Amino acid sequence: MKRPEILEKTGQTLGLSNISFDVYEGELLVIMGLSGSGKSTLIRCLNRLIDTTEGEIVIDGENIPTLKEKALLECRRRHFSMVFQNFALFPHRTVQQNAEFGLEIRGVEKAERHKIAHDSLKQVGLEGWEDAYPNQLSGGMQQRVGLARALANDATVLLMDEAFSALDPLIRKDMQQELLQLQSRMQKTTVFITHDLDEALNIGDRIVLLKDGEVVQIGTPEEILTQPADDYVRRFIEGVDRSRILTAESAMRPLRTTARESDGPRTALHRMRDHSIDSIYVVDRDRRLLGLLEADAASRAIEEKSDSIIPYLTQDFRKVPMDEPLHNLFAMFSERASLSPLSISKISCWAWW
Ligand SMILES: Nc1ncnc2c1ncn2[C@@H]1O[C@H](COP(=O)(O)OP(=O)(O)OP(=O)(O)O)[C@@H](O)[C@H]1O
Ligand SMILES: [Mg+2]
Repeated sequence: MKRPEILEKTGQTLGLSNISFDVYEGELLVIMGLSGSGKSTLIRCLNRLIDTTEGEIVIDGENIPTLKEKALLECRRRHFSMVFQNFALFPHRTVQQNAEFGLEIRGVEKAERHKIAHDSLKQVGLEGWEDAYPNQLSGGMQQRVGLARALANDATVLLMDEAFSALDPLIRKDMQQELLQLQSRMQKTTVFITHDLDEALNIGDRIVLLKDGEVVQIGTPEEILTQPADDYVRRFIEGVDRSRILTAESAMRPLRTTARESDGPRTALHRMRDHSIDSIYVVDRDRRLLGLLEADAASRAIEEKSDSIIPYLTQDFRKVPMDEPLHNLFAMFSERASLSPLSISKISCWAWW
C-alpha cells in the first residue's frame, strides 16, 4: 500500500518504504522532496536517530541497525557530523569555542582542538572571527560556523539537513558555491537535504528524489532533467531553466564529416560540398584536431596550386569544456554574427552548430 492508503486504513503515517541507494565516497548526494516526503526521517535513519524497521545501513562494513549502544555511539562519532537548518550554535560561546565543541566533548587536548577548529574556520572563510559571538554574525556566517564545527569533527560523512534554507536567496547561492568549492578541495562525502529543486540541481552530484516516503528517481541532475522517471518528476522539473544545468556535452552531435591532413584542397572542398557545409575540421591520423579549413581558404589553396591544406587552416574557432552549462554558451553565439562551428574539447568529437 502507498502512504495515503495506509493513512486512511490505519491512521499511521508511512515514514519510509523500500529505500535503497548508495552514497559514493567523496560525492555530494542530495536528498530532495517536498515537505513531508520523508527527507529528515531518512537522514536520521542514517545515523540511527530514528530506528528502521528492517533493512541494512552499512558504512565501512558496519551495519548500523544492529550495533549495540556503545558501538553505535562510537560509529556516530566517527562517521557522522551534522549541520542543522537553524545553525544550533551556543550563544554564550565564541566562534572558536563553538567550532571546537565536538572535539572538546571527545576529550581532544586543548592545543590540538584549537588548531583543528582554527583550520576548519579558515576553510569556511571565517579567519579573524574566532572571538566573536554568534549574535554578532549574519545568518550566513553563523551557518559557516556550523559547517566549521562539523568539519572539525572530521567524520566520514557530513549530513546537512536543509542547512541553507534559513538563509536569504543571495547568501544561499553564495553558500552553495562555497560548499561546492569546499567539496572539490576536501572531497567530503556529503548527504545534503533540500526541498529546493534549484539547489538540488545546482549542487548535487546525484539526487535522490523522494515522494511520500518512497524513492521516485535517483540520478544526476542531467539524468533527472532529460530522463524523468515518471509524470511526477516531469511536473516537478517543469519550470527549471535547463540551460543552466545541461552542459555542452548534452548538446554535442557527432560531426558528419572531417578532412584528413593528407587531403588536398580539392578533396576537402568536395567533402564540404557533399555535406553542404562551408568549413571543415581537419584531423590527423589519430583524429586529433589540427584546425579548421574554410571553403574560401580551400579555394585559395587550389588557385595557389598547393597540394596541402595545412598552411590554409585557421585556429579561429571557439572551444568550450564539455561541462560548461549551455546557458554560458548562448552569449558566444550572439557575439559572432555568423553561425560558426563550435568545438567541444574532447578529441574526435565535435559539435556542429
Ligand atoms: N516522530 C514522528 N511521528 C510520527 N510521524 C512523523 C514523525 N516524524 C515525522 N513524521 C511524519 O513523517 C513524514 C515525513 O516527515 P519528515 O520530517 O521526514 O519530512 P521532510 O521531508 O523532512 O519534510 P520538511 O521538508 O518539511 O522538513 C511526515 O508526514 C511527518 O508528519
Ligand atoms: Mg525535514
